[in-house]
Amino acid sequence: MAEIRTVAVVGSGLMGSGIAEVVARSGHETVVREVNDQLLDQGLGRIRKSLDRAVDKGKMEPDARDATMDRVRGTTSLDDLGGSDLVIEAIVENLEAKKDLFGKLDSICPEHTLFASNTSSLTITEMAAATGRTDRFVGLHFFNPVPVMKLVEVVRTIATSEASFRAAYQFIEALGKQPVEAKDASGFIVNRLLVPYMLDAIRSLEQGLGSIEDIDRAMVLGTGYPMGPFTLGDFVGLDTLFRIAEIMYDEYAETRFAPPPLLRRMVTLGRFGRKAGSGFYNYDGDRPVPMKLDF
Ligand code: CAA
Ligand code: NAD
Repeated sequence: MAEIRTVAVVGSGLMGSGIAEVVARSGHETVVREVNDQLLDQGLGRIRKSLDRAVDKGKMEPDARDATMDRVRGTTSLDDLGGSDLVIEAIVENLEAKKDLFGKLDSICPEHTLFASNTSSLTITEMAAATGRTDRFVGLHFFNPVPVMKLVEVVRTIATSEASFRAAYQFIEALGKQPVEAKDASGFIVNRLLVPYMLDAIRSLEQGLGSIEDIDRAMVLGTGYPMGPFTLGDFVGLDTLFRIAEIMYDEYAETRFAPPPLLRRMVTLGRFGRKAGSGFYNYDGDRPVPMKLDF
């Protein structure tokens, strides 16, 4: 495998901006692609804000922040990704959108370019099959917030070559993250266990088991989780959680993966969680306030 020097990150939402930040911090030239200038500016703004935070906390020198930012180049053109050794896709959780993207990139990128998806719940095989490089296609599943969470699931399909898998695994180690190998099954390791838990919390709320605040408090104080399930759902994005649930339910046909009606209603109303200003909590004030949900 060719050395990974230049990395393209497609999508600069919650995950793409975090991935681009850690990639650039580790010294790689980083190209970030968004669909329009406004979303690109927002994504680059998130990277800058996160680096400023590291400087404010004394964890990074201002010079290192500036050098990191200099390694990040934003674009709205897919053609600008043609010089990349690795492409990491972090666009919306939608198979057709991802297949369309990888199909186009397949003809833009040179033969040696390794393709990776940060999907939460789709299988890597489905995306790889839209390209002529199934042997050079892996899953790189990061966790939110990317600059903080140490884990990355590195996923190989039955078509991924040993050299591609090893290059991906070593790349993750070079970022200072801790890789685990996961099979190409919807949800990989973490979401297979975490998603039913978050969905069950919503079902518990629907059934009147407790309030949003009390269920969250119970899981934090009773089990030592850093966030309760509603805080975490808002943090992940309820639109993303909903899509993940639909995909996993479609894959496994087990009711524990089925999106609860309340989650569907929240998404229909645009209450996507923290990124939208409201979800199970409202984020307008100094501290999150649980939504009044009389149903
Ligand atoms: N970006 C960068 N750094 C951040 C950050 C962000 N968005 N949020 C927090 N941090 C950093 C802070 O700077 C701080 O660093 P220091 O300790 O060095 O000062 C550290 O993280 C802790 O932050 P805080 O003290 O402000 O807050 P906290 O103690 O409440 O921790 C948290 C915040 C790390 C997010 C913690 O609440 C946590 O681990 N939550 C659970 C997150 C989780 O489960 N993520 C997985 C989601 S599922 C997923 O990602 C997979 C999927 O496919 C859906
Ligand atoms: P998000 O909605 O915050 O961001 C997605 C971004 O992709 C948007 O800014 C959108 O404009 C952009 N986009 C859409 N199509 C594009 C294209 N063709 N080219 C470039 N940009 C495009 O979503 P997110 O939470 O960052 O999730 C992104 C991916 O990461 C999804 O596959 C999701 O399942 C996965 N993921 C999410 C989390 C999480 O906690 N949110 C954790 C791990 C993995």
